[in-house]
Amino acid sequence: MNETINSMLTRRSIRSYKTTQIAERDLNWILEAAIYAATSRNLQSWDFTVIQNNDMLKKLSKAAADTLRKMGDARSLEKANDPDFSPFYHAPTVIIVSGNDNRNARIDCANATQNMCVAANALGLGSCYLASFTQAFDDPAVAATLMKELGIPDGYKPQFAVSLGYANEKPATPERRRDVIHFVK
Ligand SMILES: Cc1cc2nc3c(=O)[nH]c(=O)nc-3n(C[C@H](O)[C@H](O)[C@H](O)COP(=O)(O)O)c2cc1C
Repeated sequence: MNETINSMLTRRSIRSYKTTQIAERDLNWILEAAIYAATSRNLQSWDFTVIQNNDMLKKLSKAAADTLRKMGDARSLEKANDPDFSPFYHAPTVIIVSGNDNRNARIDCANATQNMCVAANALGLGSCYLASFTQAFDDPAVAATLMKELGIPDGYKPQFAVSLGYANEKPATPERRRDVIHFVK
């Protein structure tokens, strides 16, 4: 099978990681894949924050848990009260993708996020496309502090993230819908 197609088809969301850090060379290729994604009007309406700091990841997890606690439903409370809760699944590297206020910024961010996941798989790394961690930024006061500490530029907002590391699981492939493909010949 063609290598690129193979990377797309065999990429899986990894939710358990080994503690070993990824190689800088691999990280650089993944970031390169991100910035070569298609963007609306070539505006490249994104910003990338690479986090390899456990204290910062814990701080973000705590902020997300605080939001879940405020939500108050049973499922959110269960997650929030789990001392091991991490929306990043304890991956050693997390890349936050923030978008500015251009009309299609979120789509630019999504394209870059998917490119990174496919690139990670091609390099033998596990990844997970993430959105739920943005709960960490729900409280405006908490968000302001976190964004400053993360160095996210003014006018940009976290949209998605990618967790990266060596996979500690081999998940099954979720069933794909095929009834959604139509041909007009
Ligand atoms: C926009 C978007 C947001 C997602 N957010 C999360 C998330 O917050 N946490 C998570 O575990 N997976 C998240 N996922 C991963 C999906 O759950 C996953 O892609 C889907 O279940 C299919 O599984 P696969 O990636 O292994 O093919 C997200 C995927 C997308 C595209």
